[in-house]
Amino acid sequence: MRLLVTGAAGFIGSNFVRLVLERAPTTEIVVFDALRYSGNLSTMADFAGRVKFVKGEIQNARLVGETLVNEKITHMVNFAAESHNDRSLLDNSSFVQTNTFGVQVLLEAARTHRLERMLQVSTDEVYGSIADGEFTETSPLEPNTPYSAAKAGGDLLCRAHWVSFKTPVIVTRGGNTFGPYHYPEKLIPFFVVRMLQNKKVPLYGEGTQVREWIHVQDHAAGIWTALTLGEPGQVYNIGDTNERENRAVVDLLLEELGKEESLVNKIPDPRKGAHDQRYSMNSSKSQNLGWKPEMQFEESLRATVRWFRDNEAWWRPIVEDDGYKSFIAKFYGPGLGEDL
Ligand code: DAU
Repeated sequence: MRLLVTGAAGFIGSNFVRLVLERAPTTEIVVFDALRYSGNLSTMADFAGRVKFVKGEIQNARLVGETLVNEKITHMVNFAAESHNDRSLLDNSSFVQTNTFGVQVLLEAARTHRLERMLQVSTDEVYGSIADGEFTETSPLEPNTPYSAAKAGGDLLCRAHWVSFKTPVIVTRGGNTFGPYHYPEKLIPFFVVRMLQNKKVPLYGEGTQVREWIHVQDHAAGIWTALTLGEPGQVYNIGDTNERENRAVVDLLLEELGKEESLVNKIPDPRKGAHDQRYSMNSSKSQNLGWKPEMQFEESLRATVRWFRDNEAWWRPIVEDDGYKSFIAKFYGPGLGEDL
């Protein structure tokens, strides 16, 4: 297999490359990444010598096409995305550009260059929020934020490409993922790096929203299983059964770091009506391929907290970057940065 991994300098993409290098070491891997704000060369430092790197945007049809040809790519997995809901509430054009238009470019390239398989990494958020029960792969798509709507656009293009052209594309929809190299803007890594600095953390409302958490190694393994054993034209949910209220997750972070409750600052919910209350997926279809999550939630969350504690050299330059600081100040309000 000659595998192109787009978005490999990001969180799930980099962990996927590590998993493939371990599980299928003869795979030739080319990583393709625009190195936008959440993609960093430091995230790929441990495997940089074992892969080829191309810097570019997935919207760049010419560069994508040249890469597929020059590198004789047979399979492609797309992790490249704008992924943060809060950012999409501030400005959402880049979300449509990357998450919808970028997927269209990759689909056309996969079709034109007759790839054996393309896999589009998507999210449970395309289904919207669910009060009771679980989403299955046939649940309607009812996304509630510009981020999740743009991802749903990508999913629908995959479906249409399969139906119209038999482009051999698979879509996976993952749950809330956590683990090493998670960019510190999402709940878990954001709160951990702030707590490590004894800075306050902004809990939205009372923290009663429920997320279905999955460790990044389990998520990456599910994607690999879908790529190698899944059927083209199919969608596979990749979730674990760890439903937790945000408040419970935050309590565990405080406990593992030995920090006080006074660090938690409950703020009026900035997502307002766009804040999905609960996600929950039925993932039996991907389990039927032979995959199952293996990480225990509390234990692997504690290990993740310790990874951040021990890897300040990775996250410190990120949180000191001016672009990072200006997003925090803009989204949470002036002065928040340090005063929260
Ligand atoms: O479900 C999969 C999705 O999970 C992915 O598609 C997204 O890319 C990923 O960002 C994540 O979306 P969420 O919006 O659920 O994740 P986030 O970590 O931003 O927020 C998790 C919960 O924590 C949510 O209920 C909002 C809350 N929260 C988040 C932040 C950043 C806070 O209370 N305070 C915060 O500062």
